Amino acid sequence: MTTATERPAISPQTQRQTEISAMTQDTLHHQNDPVAWSTLHEALVRPGTWKNAWDLGLTPWDHAASTPALRSLLASPEYPELTKGKILVPGCGGGYDVHLFAQSPGCEYALGLDLSPVAMQKAEKLRDEKSISPQKAQFLAGDFFVHPFGTKFDVVYDHTFLCALQPTLRKDWGKRMAEIIAPGGHLITYMYPLSDHEGGPPFALSVEVYDSLLSTEFEKLFMEDVLETFESRTRQEYGEKLAVWKRK
Ligand SMILES: C[S@@+](CC[C@H](N)C(=O)[O-])C[C@H]1O[C@@H](n2cnc3c(N)ncnc32)[C@H](O)[C@@H]1O
Repeated sequence: MTTATERPAISPQTQRQTEISAMTQDTLHHQNDPVAWSTLHEALVRPGTWKNAWDLGLTPWDHAASTPALRSLLASPEYPELTKGKILVPGCGGGYDVHLFAQSPGCEYALGLDLSPVAMQKAEKLRDEKSISPQKAQFLAGDFFVHPFGTKFDVVYDHTFLCALQPTLRKDWGKRMAEIIAPGGHLITYMYPLSDHEGGPPFALSVEVYDSLLSTEFEKLFMEDVLETFESRTRQEYGEKLAVWKRK
């Protein structure tokens, strides 16, 4: 694992966050835990604090499993190209979706990128426990917007990465996707949370937002409602869709 510079510089973590972490390290990762989410929101008030969230164990989004709807999509015979070649999962967190791609037919390698070295260490440990080759599932600590990948990707998967970003970064997200995906390559967007709530993360998204960010450089091949989701999300009111886009 290599480390690149986080953008912008991280704010110093507060004493309060450290205390909260010490008290609740074991419980803050639990799904639907309101204390975990509000503490995460406090930690992310300033941009650039995702590393702190991982350092403090504030990961209430972490399902410790790959996305159920992605598993079905990759297993279906309809789009075999979605597992082929060089694959990137930006903001991959614990790396579960990277492990899934790496074990899929035709994958040259799957690269997980996240700002947090702690997340990358966790993803590598789990990869080794699953006996997945380090060449097949690679992890890098770095910033999606500036990391010099040195290649274009055949497939990129976004799951709860766009919704984690400040909405002011959305246009850059769209531009960067167009820049790093090879012509004819694919972008899989797990559209979540489809909602109009205020604040975040997760910041509310809509199909129209995705269309406006991607439709110039990508053709939308299909979009469908997510029928299989994480158990904790079945209690939420957010919409979820899966879409596949082809780079023009
Ligand atoms: C809500 S989490 C989702 C993690 C993972 N996709 C999952 O579903 O478990 C968002 C992740 O994006 C990472 N992140 C935020 N900004 C980033 C950036 N500019 N470059 C790379 N990773 C980033 C955070 O560290 C965090 O792990």
